[in-house]
Amino acid sequence: MTKKILITGARGFFGTRFINRYKTEFNILGLGSDQLNITDNDSVAKALAKFKPDYVIHAAAIATTDFCNQHPDLAYKVNVQGAVNVANACKAHDSKLVFISTEQVFNGNPEAGPYSETDQPIPDTVYGHNKLEAEQKLLAIHEETWVLRFTWLFGLPERHTSINPNVIWNALQALLNGQVMKERSNEFRGLTYIHELIEQFPRIFNIPYGIYHTGAHNSASRYEIAQHILTELGQKARLPDILEVNDAPKTRDVRLNTTKLAHHGLQFTESKNAISQCLKEFQFR
Ligand SMILES: NC(=O)c1ccc[n+]([C@@H]2O[C@H](COP(=O)([O-])OP(=O)(O)OC[C@H]3O[C@@H](n4cnc5c(N)ncnc54)[C@H](OP(=O)(O)O)[C@@H]3O)[C@@H](O)[C@H]2O)c1
Repeated sequence: MTKKILITGARGFFGTRFINRYKTEFNILGLGSDQLNITDNDSVAKALAKFKPDYVIHAAAIATTDFCNQHPDLAYKVNVQGAVNVANACKAHDSKLVFISTEQVFNGNPEAGPYSETDQPIPDTVYGHNKLEAEQKLLAIHEETWVLRFTWLFGLPERHTSINPNVIWNALQALLNGQVMKERSNEFRGLTYIHELIEQFPRIFNIPYGIYHTGAHNSASRYEIAQHILTELGQKARLPDILEVNDAPKTRDVRLNTTKLAHHGLQFTESKNAISQCLKEFQFR
């Protein structure tokens, strides 16, 4: 029988693309915040009781770091209490849970990445603290939980999807607006092509429960990535328009070691090549 998936945050960058990809393979109920406010415990319980999903992908969150820092109470309500509501309902209705977390749980770690699942995260933002607390609470509430710590995702605008700031889209916007790009040469993050992630996603349902670092390896700095994007776009002449900055007090390195997931067969193209692949698919090169 076709498996049922309930996805929260269904109108977001991830949710819209996930639903477009799998709407014929799974019976999917995608709910935006106007259809299911995850901070309303009764509504969450009712939604699961009615649909009885095999899997819940909990993608809803307030994921903007600055907004969370400015609105810590609201961020906690959505990112922690909302996630707890979802986990309690999953336990009550026997649904397996995928919780989407983030590399940003490691923002405050003094040692350099890549971090593995056994490293103790030290968040230094409200968003990072929220996600780490939610991870711990969810794993305690519901045994059948996968926690996926995503790296930074990238993709391009598509029909009936939403778009978030990301390396390629930011670069294209800067080019269109004739802006100088300020890029850090002391910042290192994994950058993952959203379609490569979504394509492999259902394999998560077959691996043991627990925490997984999820996404691409990247040895290049943000500055080097911006250079790569302009070169791939055929805009090498514009390279002087990228300003190399080192304005952060220390190197930021939140890269993830993804060996654990690779052992279960989920592997990702290294970030520079994945960026080239994305630009090729959208016929920019
Ligand atoms: N994008 C990335 O690079 C990245 C990296 C690491 C982790 N993540 C995590 O991955 C997940 C999906 O990210 P995304 O990029 O798709 O984020 P997104 O585009 O911001 O989508 C998140 C969705 O959450 C929904 N939401 C907010 N408050 C809600 C509430 N009270 N009740 C129900 N829904 C609510 C919003 O719904 P409405 O639009 O309907 O208001 C929004 O569409 C998030 O958990 C995020 O933290 C993302």
